[in-house]
Amino acid sequence: MPEQTVNRISLITGDITEQHVDAIVNAANPTLLGGGGVDGAIHRAAGPALLEECRKLNGCRTGEVKITSGYRLPARFIIHTVGPVWSDGRSGEDDLLAACYRNSLALAELSGVKSIAFPAISTGMYGFPFKRAARIAVRTIREYISTHPSVENVVFVCHGEEAYHIYREILETDTSEHPETSLAESLTAHLLMIETFHAIRIRNRTEIVKRIAPVVKNSTQALSAGILLNNWVAVSGVTGDVTIPESIILRILEHLKKM
Ligand code: APR
Repeated sequence: MPEQTVNRISLITGDITEQHVDAIVNAANPTLLGGGGVDGAIHRAAGPALLEECRKLNGCRTGEVKITSGYRLPARFIIHTVGPVWSDGRSGEDDLLAACYRNSLALAELSGVKSIAFPAISTGMYGFPFKRAARIAVRTIREYISTHPSVENVVFVCHGEEAYHIYREILETDTSEHPETSLAESLTAHLLMIETFHAIRIRNRTEIVKRIAPVVKNSTQALSAGILLNNWVAVSGVTGDVTIPESIILRILEHLKKM
């Protein structure tokens, strides 16, 4: 299948273990000790030294990421992430899957990775509905690379033509038709990153997005709102479940109106 690249995102069919990129992402399990599917393919192709390194990593939690060398693979690195097992769609699966993509990109950027290839995380043994997972993947990656230029190319590696056509249809749906939606998603992505980075949970995250998104005019303003909130979390030293005070929300709204 021909490779298509639009706005730094490429779409191909093939085997992720054969991709000549800086890093490939593995859809692993919490033990990081190998398995079937893409995990099995990567361990077979990388060789036994990969398992030796994985043994020292003490596993990985769902939505989080760990990095290893690529060993016999063309890719220099493997970023291992653990996708959510599909349950009922109301157990936080969407947020956890988005975290896999976002945290993989963040770790890739920290490691100097310029090109990265993803499989369709959680859509095999973990049973995540394919189209729903692909929408989350495309939206999360678009949001991330829109404010992180150092990630030059992201490759979706589809394991079959049906997967390719589903991704292509989603990629061709231009989110600029619904700018307010993508800005609300951008704001949500920033808040989720703050939660992951500070190991907190923002109780009123949805309410904050509902009140701030209509005021935000572009992704720079969404980033600015995220930075202000991140600064408050860092300075206040809050931990665990947190309700962002009304006074802080009002200060962010005031700041955005002056931009
Ligand atoms: N290259 C690209 N994509 C692949 C490859 C490959 N070589 N092999 C499989 N895939 C695709 C599958 O078609 C599926 O769409 O990767 C997607 C993810 O499927 P799984 O590998 O089953 O991963 P996941 O659904 O996240 O389940 C993870 O499976 O392999 C075990 O140890 C792993 O327990 C973990 C679970």
